[in-house]
Parts: sequence; C-alpha cells; structure tokens
Amino acid sequence: MMQIVTSVAAMQRLARKWRLARTKISLVPTMGYLHDGHMTLVRKARQRVGKAGRVVLSIYVNPTQFGPKEDLSKYPRDLKRDLAMCRADGVDVVFVPEDGEMYPGFGGSPSAPTAFSTYVLEGNLSPTMEGSSRPTHFRGVTTVVAKLFNLVLPDVSVFGQKDFQQAAIIQRMVRDLNFPVEIIVAPTRRENDGLAMSSRNKYLDPAQRAQATILFHALQAVSASVRRKTVSAARLKADLREFFKVAPLAKLDYVEFFSPETLEPVVKVRPGTQMALAAFFGKTRLIDNARL
Ligand code: PAJ
Repeated sequence: MMQIVTSVAAMQRLARKWRLARTKISLVPTMGYLHDGHMTLVRKARQRVGKAGRVVLSIYVNPTQFGPKEDLSKYPRDLKRDLAMCRADGVDVVFVPEDGEMYPGFGGSPSAPTAFSTYVLEGNLSPTMEGSSRPTHFRGVTTVVAKLFNLVLPDVSVFGQKDFQQAAIIQRMVRDLNFPVEIIVAPTRRENDGLAMSSRNKYLDPAQRAQATILFHALQAVSASVRRKTVSAARLKADLREFFKVAPLAKLDYVEFFSPETLEPVVKVRPGTQMALAAFFGKTRLIDNARL
C-alpha cells in the first residue's frame, strides 16, 4: 500500500524507523505534475534500493526557488493524477508537505517567507546560466533539497540530467556539506520528436509546441558539427542565432558551452563538451542540454 504523508513530523518518524531497521531509503524530489521523465527517476531509485528498500517521491512546489516575477501560483498541479502514476510505478511513500510546515510563518511572498531565514547557498556553479536568468533560484533549490535530505534521510537520491546545472549543484552541496547521500543522475526522457519532457510543456500552444523541437535540433546540429573538428564557442553561438530563425516563436535566452565537471565555459568546443540552452516561447521558458 502506498502511503501519502503530508506532515513533516510523520515523515521524520517514518524515516527514523526505516533507518533503525537498516532499510535502504531512496528519494526522488519533484514539484509534481508528473510525467514519464519523473517516473524514470522512480525506476532508477527502485533499482538502486531493491524490493526491500523504500522509494519516497516528494511533491512540493517550492516557493523559495521562484523569483518575485515568476508565477508560483500558476505552476501546474494535479495531485490526483500524480498519485495514480506513483501507485502504478510502485512508489512507497508520496511526501506532500504544506508551505506552512516547510517554511514556518510562510507569508505568501515567494522569495521571502517571514519566519524562515536559513539558506544553503552554493557559490561557484550557481551564478551562471539558469542562475543568471533566475538569481535566487538555486538558493531555493539547495535549501529545499537539504531540508528534504534531513527529513527523509535517504541513502540515494535521483535527479534528472534535464536540469544538468541543478544536478551538478546538488552533487557539489552533498560533497561540501557531507550529506551521506549518493546522488544518481538519470538521462533526459524525450517525446518522440525529441522535445525534453517537462511539466512546463503544457503551457505551449500548438504552434509553439511544434517549434519547441528547435532546442533538441540545435543540440543535434552542434553535436554533428563538432564530430570531425573542434569549433570555437563564439562561432557556434553566432551560427545558433541564425539557426533559431527557422523557429520565429522561439526567443533564445542563452546558449553555453562548458566543461561537464566544472561548468567552466570553454573556448573550443569538442566532443565531450557540455552544451546547454534556454529559450522563451511566449512566457514559457524551456531548457535542454547534452554532452556533445
Ligand atoms: P521538477 O522540475 O519537478 O523535476 C524533478 C526531477 O525530475 C528533477 O531532478 C528533474 O531534473 C527531473 N526531470 C524533469 N524532466 C525530466 C526529463 N524529461 N527526463 C529526466 N528527468 C527529468 O527540479 C525540480 O522539480 C525542483 O527544482 C526540485 C529538485 C524538486 C527542488 O524543488
């Protein structure tokens, strides 16, 4: 029987009980509105802890990772459907905490819950790419993930390659702060036409949806062009601005070429370089990345 836990105290009690019994615990943190990409992470988690272990999936639309101008209240939600998907994939516990419990005194202002004032801040990998477009975003992510690790006490936690920078930052946080958690990064799950699955895809109208494959096509085109020779990042960025003209509904936000380990930008792009990009379709911002 799948359990649904909404209180922080109840989650802590369960986790402590499992720990005492030496039951392996895995955690898949999500913001809900689940799709097959999320369920890939659940399957990885199950593989890792086995039948006797526990798979916890958390659903929490974390207010501290949304900027003041980003619409937290409009983030898509469908708990009933999420629970059905979790049940079908053998999740043991769905942890669905409320704002008032995660952030005591939560005042409704996304970036400044009133009676909460301790944050986890990763300083090196956070400021670029997603962090430059969304300055307080990763502080919210590291803070909520640290809280979830403290509450669920997982042996393993699974994240998606889809959010490459996020996964790198979580790995750094775990190393720097000695969380006894193994981080697994699972490959990006895509629609048949290559579009990376995302809860935000549902905001796209049919015309935008059709052009949204430009992100995947850009990754493929660059992959192919660096296969035989190295190319300068500056040159590729200029070419990509041209490339994006075939999708006039897409507004390129950034494209970066960097080392997958350090996230340091590279001047020369070659196979093994990581590429990440973001584009707006109206108000919807989509991201994608690949190792070339
Ligand atoms: P969310 O966007 O719901 O994503 C939850 C997890 O699913 C993340 O690790 C993300 O990388 C992974 N994921 C999303 N789309 C995927 C896809 N197409 N293929 C594989 N994995 C995919 O990321 C967050 O929530 C939040 O920032 C969170 C970590 C939960 C902290 O609030």
